[in-house]
Amino acid sequence: MTQEAQRIQEITEKYTELFGGIPEFLVRAPGRVNLIGEHTDYNDGFVFPAAIDRDVLIAGTRRNDRQVRAYALNFNQSSTFTLDGVQPATEGRERWSNYVRAMAWVFAQEGLETVGMNCVVQGDVPLGSGLSSSAAMLVASGLAYATAAGIEIEPVRLALLAQRGEREFVGVNVGIMDQFISALGQKNHALLIDTRNLTYEAVPLPQSGVSIVIADTNKRRGLVDSEYNTRRAECEKAVEILKQWLPDIKALRDVSVEDFERYADRLPETIRKRARHVITEDARTLESVEALKAGDIARFGELMNASHESLKNDYQVSCKELDALVEAARAIEGVYGSRMTGAGFGGCTVSLVADAAVEAFKRAVPPRYKQATGLNTTIYVTTAAQGAQRIR
Ligand code: GLA
Repeated sequence: MTQEAQRIQEITEKYTELFGGIPEFLVRAPGRVNLIGEHTDYNDGFVFPAAIDRDVLIAGTRRNDRQVRAYALNFNQSSTFTLDGVQPATEGRERWSNYVRAMAWVFAQEGLETVGMNCVVQGDVPLGSGLSSSAAMLVASGLAYATAAGIEIEPVRLALLAQRGEREFVGVNVGIMDQFISALGQKNHALLIDTRNLTYEAVPLPQSGVSIVIADTNKRRGLVDSEYNTRRAECEKAVEILKQWLPDIKALRDVSVEDFERYADRLPETIRKRARHVITEDARTLESVEALKAGDIARFGELMNASHESLKNDYQVSCKELDALVEAARAIEGVYGSRMTGAGFGGCTVSLVADAAVEAFKRAVPPRYKQATGLNTTIYVTTAAQGAQRIR
């Protein structure tokens, strides 16, 4: 039995035990790994993520009243609320349900029909690792409500609803990347997303020869929320200052590398570094996609490495654990490139590794990382998965 089939069996059994009968519907939404294009999405820029083969599953059935009864298999916890006037859970052990609650709240805000449901949730996206377990929860919950109510929601809208839930209900001021890739990911592809107009191009990933390897620092991302908001503000400040000479710009996305170099020395140092990261990262992202299309994996890897250096030195969102993991990966022959992925301050790295070097990676990276940090890493070899869908 595949792991997915096993999880479906488990979730269905739990559903039957709790609510009787079998669930009417089963939906899933994946986590993601961003290959390149970090901290660009709230600057109207470009990102290049893939959905991963780890997801959140929700099995459920519509109820005839306004109650939602949800159970999380990961925490063996239930949470019940009504659809009218949804509030965040105050009890720590029900915190996971805030994602399920958030989507009920967003649906109400946007005038979408909601109906009560009984459901069981189970996820295998590692939590707090920068692989977007929260986006997966939000998108899966949105799909569950839509399915229960019998309405169709177009995937870009689903992503926007999930982003609104995260921003306004959960309270983290995120960009659109995570929800977008969770809703629209394509098997064996990464998506080049233009976060300004929400258009995208699905770019095939090589199906042999090279693997996407994720390594978790197992350092939980403490600082991330406050630092994230500070970075956003610094980027806005950069735009405000640069407007004096470039009046037409709306976001850092509109500033070319050449224009930036022309005016860089007029920016205060910290603002200059932040802007330099975002502007060069957009350029790297576009170039990396061209390299990939041309089959130039080596160039793609170099750009991943450059992305990490820029995030570390200019954007200053890396940490010693991420740096140690990247260094341990790059020391292995057959690793094309390695960088932090996601918001930073902990979480995971992503490396592009020749298939023949994957075993060496698994053998050599953990002890090196342990020696440098005292921590254990967890390694996942992943493939690009399909975005959110109804399984039944
Ligand atoms: C988090 C946010 C995304 C994006 C990344 C950084 O994952 O949710 O919107 O900003 O950080 O690239």
